[in-house]
Amino acid sequence: MSDPIALVPRPRSAVWSSATWSSADPWSDLTVGVNEDLPRTEYSLTISPQGATLTAGSEAALADGRNTFAQIVTGAQGEIPCVIISDSPRYAWRGLHIDVARHFLPIAELETMIDAMALHRLNVLHLHLTDDQGWRVEIDGYPRLTEVGGFRDRTVVGRWTGTEAPEELTFDGERHGGFYTQDQLRDLVAYGINRGVMIVPEIDLPGHMQAAVAAYPELGNFPDGQGREVEVREVWGISDHVLGTSDAAFEFVRDVLGQVADIFPAPFFHIGGDECPTTEWEHSTQARERMNEWGFSRVSEIQGRFTMFAASVLKDKGKQVVGWDEILEGQLPDDTIVMNWRDADGVAAATGRGFRTVVATEDPLYLNFGQAKGDSEPLAMGSRIATLKDVYEATLVPDDLDAAQASLVLGIQAQLWTEYIADGRLLQYMAFPRLCAVAERAWGSPSESFAEFEERLGRHLERLSALGIAYRPLD
Ligand code: ACM
Repeated sequence: MSDPIALVPRPRSAVWSSATWSSADPWSDLTVGVNEDLPRTEYSLTISPQGATLTAGSEAALADGRNTFAQIVTGAQGEIPCVIISDSPRYAWRGLHIDVARHFLPIAELETMIDAMALHRLNVLHLHLTDDQGWRVEIDGYPRLTEVGGFRDRTVVGRWTGTEAPEELTFDGERHGGFYTQDQLRDLVAYGINRGVMIVPEIDLPGHMQAAVAAYPELGNFPDGQGREVEVREVWGISDHVLGTSDAAFEFVRDVLGQVADIFPAPFFHIGGDECPTTEWEHSTQARERMNEWGFSRVSEIQGRFTMFAASVLKDKGKQVVGWDEILEGQLPDDTIVMNWRDADGVAAATGRGFRTVVATEDPLYLNFGQAKGDSEPLAMGSRIATLKDVYEATLVPDDLDAAQASLVLGIQAQLWTEYIADGRLLQYMAFPRLCAVAERAWGSPSESFAEFEERLGRHLERLSALGIAYRPLD
């Protein structure tokens, strides 16, 4: 019998029967336990007319099983279909990245996204906490990071390409911002743990630091201004205002990473590393002096210095470093996890060099790209479109990796960059239902056809409605 209640992601093995289990309170009637004889990632769920039992090889697998049970129970309304499911994920890292820097997102909206992730057995929330347009985490000893860096006076309106003359730009005139206290983030971590979702923080460095430099000019390359005063960025794109090379800048990195590492118990810590222009370093006397001191011949080597410094701070905190794929161009520790975003060939390149990799390739895993053509869709990043079908059918992990390389692919992650996503409702619209397709691919669900998936999804969307998620309706 085929799946009568449309599970998403589809389990790798499920045997449905036409019998049902009657339970007025299925959660309290469910028997649950860890069984150490099972593989750590596997759960086994049996629902028979006599009752329901869930066992799993670890607490994490138990969370996956509970989330499957939640879908079955929500879809069934009292008469619960009987099934034997034995399931484990293809990938350990099934992620969603949310950029809370370009637009601040209240904690309640993040909790809703965690609920929705859990429903889809996605288990890593990667929080992009800092960027040129806003600094979102309170750091002791640096109050101006959030007082100044957490807010911008206005935001560019419409699609920004970077080619416009300043007088061609329109701004909304509205102050935007916000930040999280460390206690709020600790509570969010606990909220995630209770639902099987680990939060991995990102402090993007040494580029994407304009908000921090606006707050503390001494962290930048031109501390006394010299006519280059910096404010929190009001347009999108890549900023030249990167961290300077002073001892103060490195101490800042140590303080921030140390405090953020203490908030998030995850064994992973993302240090960004993407899109770091070297222009300011080229023009800074101090950067030149530091290069001599460090024995560097190329300005670009400075980024590797930051990577190695950050990695050593984080190692003392028991964390492994994750970075966007640009960090492969500089010095980096062997145990770095490379998050591949620019193109699919990067997965082969990183794993070929022996690095563990998370596949986050922008085409089609940037869910901030539009999901359909037409004027009725909200303004989205760039002109590229990634439809639900594109996401479902894409080859995310190159199929020509050898066995050693394939074993280094930790998982798959969708991204939601928020330049054009100003609130939680729009975030949900951009995420869903494409994130349902990502969940299937990341779980390793057996796939029949897009038509079959779409049919199952049609019924699954009722669960998203029950959660109050503002998904984009199917075409
Ligand atoms: C990125 O999109 N800059 C990682």
